[in-house]
Amino acid sequence: MSGSTVLHRLGALDLDRAAALHAEAFVPFGERAWTRQDMAELLASPGVAGLLFQVEGMDAALAICRVVADEAELITLAVRRAHRRRGAARRLLAAVLDHVCAAGAKTLFLEVAADNPAALRLYETTGFRTVGSRPAYFRRGSGPAADAVVMRLDLS
Ligand SMILES: CC(C)(COP(=O)(O)OP(=O)(O)OC[C@H]1O[C@@H](n2cnc3c(N)ncnc32)[C@H](O)[C@@H]1OP(=O)(O)O)[C@@H](O)C(=O)NCCC(=O)NCCS
Repeated sequence: MSGSTVLHRLGALDLDRAAALHAEAFVPFGERAWTRQDMAELLASPGVAGLLFQVEGMDAALAICRVVADEAELITLAVRRAHRRRGAARRLLAAVLDHVCAAGAKTLFLEVAADNPAALRLYETTGFRTVGSRPAYFRRGSGPAADAVVMRLDLS
């Protein structure tokens, strides 16, 4: 990753930018864009934290996770197109792992679309293993819903 980078917690001032970044990543899959309100409600939920990764002052990627007792969930991870394949997701995922471990999590779960090879590869190479599937889990407008692969990473 070249250029100066900054990682900070998503806050109230970041909601519109976070929603835009999320939409850029997921609307192409046919998923519904999250609104500023969706983002605000999610970040206000117990145990939820968001991380924003910036490269040379530009928003590059975001991750949102939740920790409840000793279990954590990666709710979303999105990298702007212009910043992909430069290690942003790996860097952000490492920060998520640090955060959830510090919050007491022993395992991290996520659901990823079965037709998303880039994300599957990212998670497999981070050490996640597949522990289940959820048929037709991700709704995609008028198109067919996508199956989810459930993955788990043991943190201890
Ligand atoms: C999946 C995504 C988060 C990857 O972000 P990224 O910053 O480009 O990923 P990185 O550069 O950190 O790459 C890390 C690893 O992921 C895998 N990977 C990333 N993009 C890939 C691609 N297009 N094809 C195959 N593998 C890919 C590779 O294993 C890569 O390691 P390598 O570069 O050593 O081969 C990004 O493409 C994205 O935001 N996609 C849309 C939203 C999404 O799918 N989010 C995850 C859903 S849960």
